[in-house]
Amino acid sequence: MKTKYYYHIVTFGCQMNVHESEKLASICEKMGYALTENREDADLIIFNTCAIREGAEDRVFGNIGALKRMKKQNKDLIIAVCGCMTQKQQTADYMIKTFPFVDIVIGTFNLANFESYVEAVKHARLVKQKSRQLDLWNEGEIDESVPYLRTSGENAWVNIMQGCNNFCTYCIVPYVRGREKSRKKENILSEIREIVASGKYKKITLLGQNVNSYGKDLSPQVSFAQLLKEICAIEGDFKVWFMTSHPKDLTDEVIEVIAKEDKILKDIHLPAQSGNNRILTLMNRRYTREKYLGIIEKIRQLMPNCRITSDFIVGFPTETEEEFQDTFNLVKQVKFDSIFAFMYSPREGTVAAKMEGQIADEVKNRRVNELLNLEKKIQKEEGKK
Ligand code: 5AD
Ligand code: SF4
Repeated sequence: MKTKYYYHIVTFGCQMNVHESEKLASICEKMGYALTENREDADLIIFNTCAIREGAEDRVFGNIGALKRMKKQNKDLIIAVCGCMTQKQQTADYMIKTFPFVDIVIGTFNLANFESYVEAVKHARLVKQKSRQLDLWNEGEIDESVPYLRTSGENAWVNIMQGCNNFCTYCIVPYVRGREKSRKKENILSEIREIVASGKYKKITLLGQNVNSYGKDLSPQVSFAQLLKEICAIEGDFKVWFMTSHPKDLTDEVIEVIAKEDKILKDIHLPAQSGNNRILTLMNRRYTREKYLGIIEKIRQLMPNCRITSDFIVGFPTETEEEFQDTFNLVKQVKFDSIFAFMYSPREGTVAAKMEGQIADEVKNRRVNELLNLEKKIQKEEGKK
């Protein structure tokens, strides 16, 4: 009889998923499973998925498909899929139909109940009944009940909010993660106090899809700037970083707090997405190129050495060559320390996916390469300085 059981988690996508996998890990350990880095040794395999672009989804499908063989070899293996892909009804339906060997399919709001799904699968197998556990979309409150098994070395992730209200027209996040909900300030502060007291972490990274709108849904309201100040007032030797900021909500007050507080890393990730005002409007970003440049100027005035990074999407529907050049010139002008550039990927159910004037893949590909080559050149030149 087997005495030791192993779990293996495969995480796709953003830091939020990485952090949520830490929650799943802690549940697995509580159930008595031990971590294995080797998929072949696992008795419980979890895929924490990402839906942001088609490429991310294809990778997940490929990985899940490859498990069929393992399930044949090990009838006791339990396979679970969670994360953003399962929050989309059509994708979840497709997954459930196409991969009958997947035992558990659950949404991002149900992670805290993970143990009960695993137990239900085990029990059903014992009594030789159908064991599939499906628990999809149900937009819930922020779970504070399950601790995290921190796995990112000296960095501790701290979730401060979930969801997004912005509905940028290309983005699937508001549909799969629901509306913005902030964690109570006291819960965040006590989590950070514990992290600092443990003495194991040097950096605390605050996570949220749109951290700058933290606290707007709380009563009484708390601003992100206020939260930052109170975190920095905690005694101890640690640094604070956060992501992601939205240019429309990054206030002067927040920039001033970053500049003033020694504990906050001078490193701001500020996705611009495009340098052209017509495209920014179509994207529903609610700022202009000029407003974006104004924020950069303010940051550099107060913190000349602040690292600034950004995200860009090229080939948004109807984007002309000249409009792409506006993005190109913005990158050239700002000289970011680093950028991510993505080819626009239509996401079913979003406004932009239905727009006319979708751009051919070859064009997107060329534009993305142009932007990345420019960035490489800038980094080289700045490096020389
Ligand atoms: N296509 C391409 N890139 C996207 N992003 C978000 N949605 C899409 C999409 N549909 C990019 C944005 C965002 C980053 C996390 O992913 O640049 O900032
Ligand atoms: Fe998506 Fe825009 Fe929300 Fe970011 S702010 S998660 S890009 S909708």
